[in-house]
Amino acid sequence: MPSKRKRKKSLNSNPAPGNKYDIDPARLPVHVAIIMDGNGRWAKKRLLNRVMGHEKGSESVRIVVRTSREVGIQHLTLFAFSTENWERPRTEITALMKLLNRFLKTERNEMRDNDIRLQAIGQIDRLPEYVQKTLLKTIDLTKDGRAMQLNLALSYGGRTDIVRMARMISRESIKGQLTPEAITPDLVSSYLYTKDLPDPDLLIRTSGEMRISNFMLWQIAYSELYITDTLWPDFDKKEYLHILKQYQSRDRRFGKIKD
Ligand code: FPP
Repeated sequence: MPSKRKRKKSLNSNPAPGNKYDIDPARLPVHVAIIMDGNGRWAKKRLLNRVMGHEKGSESVRIVVRTSREVGIQHLTLFAFSTENWERPRTEITALMKLLNRFLKTERNEMRDNDIRLQAIGQIDRLPEYVQKTLLKTIDLTKDGRAMQLNLALSYGGRTDIVRMARMISRESIKGQLTPEAITPDLVSSYLYTKDLPDPDLLIRTSGEMRISNFMLWQIAYSELYITDTLWPDFDKKEYLHILKQYQSRDRRFGKIKD
């Protein structure tokens, strides 16, 4: 069942029929988050340049966005570039930025036509100016999308998110605008990059690594985890639908017991 915490806005007043795939629309995760990993290994296995893995990976992005919209997912968050990814070779960073820019340009009309709204979380001001420009234009073009929100995590890190929140709260406290007692979990959530999003119900990670890699550390407290060995460029609609179906059999208790 979707998380009860932070059910802020329902984007989707007329959900797409998830049951076409034997998925119960009433038990869909409201928010799916994905750590897209394994592009480099996919390329290496084929003796290709790592960038080719990222290029193939952007096709999987397209598939997951379309499928999410089709089944009625309201929020999809993709970890596309982490704060740590800035330490990769300059050539790979440049290629990833170009790929992101191309993806936004080629997909934005389809997003708008399919009622999808784009948002970004992370240190957007660290992205190259041309990417920031394309990103802001795409956000603006798709701002009326109500069926689904696609959140791209770009130069995002969970620890940076938490430090940023602590600094903002600290500034308010110093000004006398916030007492220590006013600092509650909901207040903390409201200072994170994800302040307008419900917490993820389902976190998928590809490539078999059993780690969170600094992604949404606060927000995934009660997310259901699904780790697949599939490398991101090989992740397809069939596997995504299988994971959504599997999620529906999970017993979510949020630390409580059944009545
Ligand atoms: C991790 O694989 C993936 C990334 C660092 C970047 C993710 C980017 C894409 C999926 C393509 C572009 C994105 C969009 C939104 C169009 P890795 O390079 O760490 O793989 P490895 O662990 O096998 O080396």
